[in-house]
Amino acid sequence: MLILGLNMFHADSSAAIIEDGEVLFAIAEERLNRIKHYAGFPSLAVRACLDFVSAKITDVDHVAVGQDTDANLAKKVQYALANPAGVLNFIRLRQRKQAMRNVRSLLEEALEAEAEALAFQEHRVEHHIAHIASAYYCSPWEKAAGFSYDGSGDFVSTMMARCEGTRIDVLERIFLPQSLGSFYTMICEFIGYNQYGDEGKVMGLAPYGRDTYCERLRELVGLNNGSFNLDINYFQPLGSNQGMQVLPDGRVKLARHFSDRMVRHFGEPRKPQTEITQREMDLAYAMQQRFEEVFFHLLSQLHKRVPLEELVMAGGCALNSVANGKLFNRTPFRHTWIQPASGDEGLAVGAALHTYHAILKQPRRYVMKHSYLGPEFAETRIESALRKSNVRYQKLGREPLLDSVAARIARGEVVGWFQGRMEWGPRALGNRSILAHPGLPSMKDALNARIKHREWFRPFAPSVLAERQHEYFEHDHPSPFMLHVYKILREKRDELCAVNHIDNTGRLQSVTREENPLYYDLIRAFERKTGTPVLLNTSFNENEPIVCAPEEAIDCFQRTRMDALAIGPYLALKSEN
Ligand SMILES: [Fe+2]
Repeated sequence: MLILGLNMFHADSSAAIIEDGEVLFAIAEERLNRIKHYAGFPSLAVRACLDFVSAKITDVDHVAVGQDTDANLAKKVQYALANPAGVLNFIRLRQRKQAMRNVRSLLEEALEAEAEALAFQEHRVEHHIAHIASAYYCSPWEKAAGFSYDGSGDFVSTMMARCEGTRIDVLERIFLPQSLGSFYTMICEFIGYNQYGDEGKVMGLAPYGRDTYCERLRELVGLNNGSFNLDINYFQPLGSNQGMQVLPDGRVKLARHFSDRMVRHFGEPRKPQTEITQREMDLAYAMQQRFEEVFFHLLSQLHKRVPLEELVMAGGCALNSVANGKLFNRTPFRHTWIQPASGDEGLAVGAALHTYHAILKQPRRYVMKHSYLGPEFAETRIESALRKSNVRYQKLGREPLLDSVAARIARGEVVGWFQGRMEWGPRALGNRSILAHPGLPSMKDALNARIKHREWFRPFAPSVLAERQHEYFEHDHPSPFMLHVYKILREKRDELCAVNHIDNTGRLQSVTREENPLYYDLIRAFERKTGTPVLLNTSFNENEPIVCAPEEAIDCFQRTRMDALAIGPYLALKSEN
């Protein structure tokens, strides 16, 4: 049975294909059309899914969309009527609903199929149910507490659920305008980070701050008996799309989230690209602090209702790896399974799996053991791309390639690493990565100056051999998808100085041989040369979606000051070297 999952007309639009409950292929449209966070219809992603399983759209049995515009309708109407500014927005959203209705004609058009030949049944899965499904049905557990939180989706910002067998029973929904995601976005905007997806950047700024505003932000987000309450006077009324506007070309634009009251209380907002002052750092600090307090409060509440040690989680806020890393000390949960694509691209997988298990009542057998669910490219295609480019390259066997790359990294070179299937989700996990030495004090600045051009306060991440994690980090709980930040042990901070953040933490990826043998063996080869079983791993891109195809990798390699590129079995160097 083939099920196509979709996230469409929503940020990070995506498609996933599952066969008999197994996720075979999943990809965000941005990787293919190269428009970051693309929010239109994922035509290219759908094609890529079908090509991977050598199927036509007429072979698909079910299409599942991770959005249900009829869900929570009463709450939406109530909100729109109480808030005149929201009425127009409400009407606009209902119009978009009409567009959403036409999945059949959209697929027909995108794939040039005959309408009569499309035999699939259509299913709508509420946004946060799809998020929780994307975690639970990929986890190895038969029972778990389910949690999803983000800015908003289908008028809800937070959902708690009991997951058991093939069922996800919703225990709690927190409706707009209450939204921990919107709180985070609002402060990020106020301190000058106003693009969709900027929240992850600001997380790295927080530890530079001091406790100046913590008390005041506690007033801004109050706790109440298992939930929370925003002081909405600090927020611009945004309507049920929470200020996220999809432009005609599919780009996402954020409306101003903060109200004039914010300005009266905290001064003028920082303009993007201007200097960051102590105020911004302190606000980032207080924001992260309050976010965590509310998060742990909600999780403790969830644990009371579902007293298990296993927690499954998704939703854009589940990418807050700093909060995730602390939850073992601050809540009763002991094991987490967090969807690598916790943002809205993950809805495609969640909607498809929910349809298979909860709607069609099919038993579970799948576990998402790795995130390598995107395309891979044949050696011939890679070679042809290299031939057309202006680089020198040679083909190497597996061991010589590993040895050569490890030696280059050990002597301080920066190497592009393009291997196998592309990762699903926002993190590069050793298949579309740029790799460097984690123990060279100058490496962070060098990477930023030469390749990444990121904000100075953002840390780079370490990939560590899973069985050696305990020698370097305070926690041994695995973080296969780079979704936990842990303290680096005191005696290892110098050894990992290029990935050790200002607060002595690292957002690690635990690497096992089972999940990625080539990457694992590369880290082993690096360890043989340096004694350190860790590599600095950053995503293969330069202010663009992560590279997907060989041509994009070669292009990024050529326009930046990377030293070498290992692409499939080929080692490429700049022609002037
Ligand atoms: Fe979401």
